[in-house]
This record gives sequence, C-alpha cells and structure tokens, in this order.
Amino acid sequence: MNDLEYGYLKSKILSLTGINLDNYKSGQMRRRLEGFIDRTQGLDVTLYSKRLDQNPELLQDLQDFLTINVSEFFRDTQAFEVLQTQVIPLMLKRSQRLNIWSAGCSIGAEPYSLAMILRKLSPGGQHRILATDLDEKILAKAKAGGPYSAAEVKGVPREFADKHLVADGGSYRVAEHIRQRVEFRRHDLLTGPPESGFDLIVCRNVTIYFTSKAKDFLYSGFTGALKDEGVLFLGGTEALLGFQELGLKRIHTSFYQKTGHGAADIHPRGVSQSAVGTTDAPGKVLSKV
Ligand SMILES: C[S@@+](CC[C@H](N)C(=O)[O-])C[C@H]1O[C@@H](n2cnc3c(N)ncnc32)[C@H](O)[C@@H]1O
Repeated sequence: MNDLEYGYLKSKILSLTGINLDNYKSGQMRRRLEGFIDRTQGLDVTLYSKRLDQNPELLQDLQDFLTINVSEFFRDTQAFEVLQTQVIPLMLKRSQRLNIWSAGCSIGAEPYSLAMILRKLSPGGQHRILATDLDEKILAKAKAGGPYSAAEVKGVPREFADKHLVADGGSYRVAEHIRQRVEFRRHDLLTGPPESGFDLIVCRNVTIYFTSKAKDFLYSGFTGALKDEGVLFLGGTEALLGFQELGLKRIHTSFYQKTGHGAADIHPRGVSQSAVGTTDAPGKVLSKV
C-alpha cells in the first residue's frame, strides 16, 4: 500500500467510523490492513476503500478487525496476585471507599475481576468501579455480565469461581452481586479522562499500537486523574518510560504510584491534538490481545 492509498483509506476510516489511524504506528498498521484486505476481499486498496461507503457489512468487519477486544478474567495471574496481596491492601488502609477506573475494559472481565477481589478483601467497603470502553458492542456484553466462554474465565481462582460465576449452558455469567458493583460507560480514552480523583486506574493491553504521542497524552491524563498516592496499573508489555517526569514512582512491575510532585498535575487538554482525538469524530485506538 503506497502513501497515497494509505492516506485515502485512513480518511475513509476516520469519516465512517471515527477511528483515527494517525494514533497508531503506521508501519504496523499498514501491514495489518494489507493482510486483512487481501484475506477478506482480495481487492486493491483503493477499490476496497471505495466499497466501504456502500457496504455496511464490510465496514463492520473492518471495525471488528480494528478493535481487538480479546480479554479474560485475571489476565496475567502474577500481576493480579500483586494487586490483591500488596497494592489493594495498602489502599484499603487509607480508605474503605476506593474509586477505581478500568479504562479499555472490553468484555468486562477486568472490572469484574477487580470487583471479586474487593469483595474478598473489603466486603463491607463502599467502593466504586467505573469501567469504560469505546466499543458499544463489547460494552453490551460487559453490562450483561456475559456470557463468557470457558477460556475467558479460566483464570478465575477457584474460590472466586464457586461464589461469583454462574454456569449457563456451556458458558458462564457473572453473578448479580458482582455485576451490580461495576458501572459501565462508553468513553474514548483519547479525549482525556472522564473524571478525576481515582485511587486506582487500570489500563492494560490497550496501548500496544499507539503512537508515542498518543501514549504521552494518555499517561499524562491518567496521572492527572489519580489522587495523590493513587496507583496506575498497566499491562505487562506497557512499561512506562519517563514515569518520574510525570510524577510517578514504580512500586512494582506494571504498577506506578503518584507522588504528587509531577508535571502531570497539569492536565494536557490544551495540547495540540491533531492525532489524539480532537478531530470531528472520536479517535479510536487499537489494542493488542
Ligand atoms: C485487548 S482489549 C484489553 C481489555 C482488558 N483491559 C484486558 O487487558 O484484558 C483493548 C480494549 O481497548 C479498547 N479501546 C481501544 N481504543 C480505545 C479508545 N480510544 N478509547 C477507549 N477504549 C479503547 C478496545 O475497544 C478494547 O476493548
């Protein structure tokens, strides 16, 4: 795909779906799209781009391809172990009203895992879990509490599965007492945080294909939205370079705590955002499984 073809396809995708491909690393994105178009249609890129206008199914397939929603409960056992045995217990010493945000929550497996942990560690606590994603379709499954496949729930520890999962034919649903602990909302991460004052922000496996500019914007916004001493929990491959400048310290692999002395207290809403979501349509960012 040459520059002209890629530019044309990008502008079609932006106008039809709101997904701003300028937020993605362009080499990887081109290769992925080339493979996808070739596999599904065998058309040349320009013809494919033109057909997107008239064919809603083609457009839906493309959106599904761009939005990688793969997720599972307690994804990354070791990191969730640290969260449960070290990070959340420390937070609970300070407050029984934790305000938590699961950003890019996909099918809801992540926020429901958090709800299960909190119910064990602090059954009487008045905690809040906000879970957001850009993808309406996936949020519908999250809000409904399933159904989840055996593969999606395989990481749920036995003690939690017995209490909080309900078998439903060959699949599983989250029990009502867990489902009602999570508030779901559609939100585009590239417009900045929906609120501030969070004790914990969990954003995992969302930024793999982001450009550095999009990541800078995101992490700066997250830091601004954390309370002092609040914690940012990232994915295993999403190490945060330059966390000190943001006013964070690394307290464990994947966990960063706000020190309260960083530049990120100034939220970057005013920054020029040609490629971070202030175009007419919301900028959607791809994610990695
Ligand atoms: C691979 S899933 C990760 C889910 C979960 N955090 C986990 O680790 O299992 C990435 C999710 O990020 C969402 N996402 C991608 N770009 C987004 C954006 N700009 N705003 C909000 N959500 C976005 C996708 O729709 C997808 O559901």
